[in-house]
Amino acid sequence: MDAKDRKDLRDRPIRTFGRTGGRALSPRQQTLFETRLGHWRVPAPLPPRLDPQDLFITTGPVWLEIGFGGGEHLVAQAAAHPGTGFIGCEPFVEGVAKAIAGIEDNGLKNVRLWPDDARLLLEALAPGSVERVFVLFPDPWPKRRQQKRRLVQPAFTAALAQVLMPGGQVRFATDVASYADEALLAFAGGGLFEWTATCADDWRRPPKDHVTTRYETKKLGDCAPVWLDFRRV
Ligand SMILES: C[S@@+](CC[C@H](N)C(=O)[O-])C[C@H]1O[C@@H](n2cnc3c(N)ncnc32)[C@H](O)[C@@H]1O
Repeated sequence: MDAKDRKDLRDRPIRTFGRTGGRALSPRQQTLFETRLGHWRVPAPLPPRLDPQDLFITTGPVWLEIGFGGGEHLVAQAAAHPGTGFIGCEPFVEGVAKAIAGIEDNGLKNVRLWPDDARLLLEALAPGSVERVFVLFPDPWPKRRQQKRRLVQPAFTAALAQVLMPGGQVRFATDVASYADEALLAFAGGGLFEWTATCADDWRRPPKDHVTTRYETKKLGDCAPVWLDFRRV
């Protein structure tokens, strides 16, 4: 390892996700991953100031889902909003294969996948180019010594603020109490976002347009789900 490699390693952000591989893919998932990801993925290397509308046939707004897991929410939202372009970010290979299956089984044309760390995409996206972002049940990293690996922290919310248009929205959800507190502080504490809740039910009840995922129903956290919607100031 030369000095440049050592510097690259130091500059790499702390990893916020767990395994990216693991269980063997089903034969269909394997085939989809090998033969269809090239069609659906955001091309790499990422150009600087990528205008995400260039990735879609439609000229509607662009929404981003960060850490889409098995893709259930991404696919359902994309089916419900065919005039909106969706970019789903997820480094977990099985999740990407499931999302490709969901996209193709539903005949969707308005989804692109970034099968890697979302923070790399955020760095490349043109400022103000995204209308809405979902960060739903991000990895909780519950142990104290792991908490530095949580995705939502001030550098991340600043990167989201950069790509969102004024008035753009973010939805964050978690069932880990300390993560809800941290996220509220990271979003609303920096002056770049305002929390849109007007009553307790706004954060205690799932929003009307939410689509429940399998992960969410496992209820692995230490509190009931907390729903935090923010608006870019
Ligand atoms: C606990 S799962 C929840 C999945 C999904 N949002 C849901 O609610 O079902 C969190 C997901 O975020 C992904 N993730 C974590 N860090 C990420 C990052 N930096 N960029 C993109 N995805 C990330 C993980 O790989 C994992 O699949």
